[in-house]
Order: sequence, then C-alpha cells, then structure tokens
Amino acid sequence: MIRKFTTLLHHLENGILTITINRPEKLNALNAAVFTELDIAMDAVAENEAIRSVIITGAGQKAFVAGADISEFNSLDKNGAMDLSQRGQDIFAKIENSSKPVIAAVNGFALGGGCELAMACHFRIASFNAKFGQPEVNLGLIPGYGGTQRLTQLIGKGRAMELLMSANMIDAKSALQYGLVNLIIEPEDLLLKAVEILNNINSKAPLAVAGCISSVNASFDKQTNGFRHEVEAFGNCFDTADMKEGTAAFLEKRKANFTGK
Ligand code: COA
Repeated sequence: MIRKFTTLLHHLENGILTITINRPEKLNALNAAVFTELDIAMDAVAENEAIRSVIITGAGQKAFVAGADISEFNSLDKNGAMDLSQRGQDIFAKIENSSKPVIAAVNGFALGGGCELAMACHFRIASFNAKFGQPEVNLGLIPGYGGTQRLTQLIGKGRAMELLMSANMIDAKSALQYGLVNLIIEPEDLLLKAVEILNNINSKAPLAVAGCISSVNASFDKQTNGFRHEVEAFGNCFDTADMKEGTAAFLEKRKANFTGK
C-alpha cells in the first residue's frame, strides 16, 4: 500500500492492514485530515489485492477516538455542518460497505465520532478499559456521522435513546452486554486477538465473506430487499471457483485452497 499519512499509521502483515488513528495528544479526535486520509486508505483497501481485511484502532493507551475534533466546529455555519456530516457519513459508509472485513479494536475512549467510527466497522472488539458514548448533547449537538442510526441498529431503540439523550458513557462490560462489542479483553491482548479473528476469517472464501457482508448490510438498507439480495448473493457463489473448491475439498476430506476467484 499506499502513501505516508500525517494522521494515520498503517501496517500490512499477512493480508491484514492495521490502520491506527494517530493523534494521541488530541485523543485521536477526527479532524478534516483524518477524514481525508481514512477516505484514501479505504480506497486503497478496495483496490489493493494484498489487503484481505482491516483493523482500525487508535494510538496510545487512552483513546480509540474521542470524537470529532471539536476545535473545527466553531467556524461552521449550518451548510458547512451539513457538508461535514454528509462527508463523515459517506466515509463511514465506505467502511461499512467494504467488501473486505473491517473490525474496530477499541482501546480506550470511543466517544461521539469515535463510537460512530467503531459502529461503522463490521464488528467491534474492545479492551477492558474501553468506554463508549455519544456525548454530543453536552455540546448542543447530535451525532452526525450515522450515530443515531447505527446505535439504534446495534443496541435497540430504548438503549440508544437513553445513551443519546443522557450523554452517559458505558464501560466495556456494559458495551458487551448491550451487544455493541463482540468481546472484551486485556488491553495488551487486543490487537493480537483482532489479528487472530481476522486470520481465521481470511482463511475462508473471500467472495463468500463479501457476500455475507453485503447481505447483512442489505437488511438495514430500506431501498433493498435483503432476502432477495441474499438469493442473488447465494447464486453468485455458484459462479465462483472457490465454491467449487470448497465443496470439492469437503467431499475429498481435505483443506480447501481458496483463491478469491
Ligand atoms: N476534539 C478536540 N480535542 C479533543 C477532543 C475532541 N473531541 N477530545 C479530547 N481532545 C483534546 C483535549 O482538548 C486535550 O487537548 P489539550 O491537551 O491541547 O488541551 C487532549 O485532547 C486531552 O484531552 P483531555 O480532555 O485533557 O483528557 P481527559 O482525560 O481530561 O478527558 C475525555 C478525556 C475523553 C473525557 C475528554 O477529552 C472529552 O470529553 N473529550 C470530548 C468528547 C466529546 O465530546 N466527543 C464528541 C465530540 S462531537
């Protein structure tokens, strides 16, 4: 991959790209530069065949991402704010709709835009010290990068309403109980666990994995009939070499050798 960034670190190993939001002195707050670079990075993820899956995490011990960079809000009028919200939503939709798995490894505060970024990923794992919340109402704001929608999808209406209206933070244990994260783990084991999870997923047929992602996403897309999408995605599998290889390998009692074709 790709170029050198100013606000992101990236590291590609065994097909797993780790993207680290790297503004620890500002608790990795999402400013315009982070958005631009995340956008470029996700384009590279789509184009680069060496990348099979992605981990998004934050630099330092304290934060995943502590929100949108509040210092960039003062200069905005209503139209500027709507443009920012749309841009954030578009970039996060790129993550959500990535055909390659993207997981968030939440290593501390995931607040506001940070919680929204984590929720745009396909699923989340977190360290025991992680904290989640949408504190925008403290600032006279609401979430603007899809938070009201994805939080409701992930934890249900009642809990989403309470978190959004109260600005309360929840700890990793509650996030697990709410279904916001899939597992919680010691901070020092977080990235290793993310890699272990993705190594397993990367051993599966990539086009089938992509079909799972698009079909699950279709169930939240009001323009799409998710069941019909699944029918087509299921059918598409039968046009792949990997489906022939996977079924043959099972019948021949051997390990499948998937090629992503
Ligand atoms: N935007 C811009 N800067 C931020 C930020 C954000 N969302 N979150 C933290 N920072 C900056 C702080 O201003 C501070 O910068 P400084 O050292 O130049 O003053 C630095 O990051 C460290 O944060 P600080 O507040 O000193 O750490 P803390 O441990 O006392 O508190 C938080 C941690 C997360 C509770 C607190 O930073 C916070 O509430 N952040 C904002 C969360 C938020 O409202 N997010 C939604 C934004 S829409």
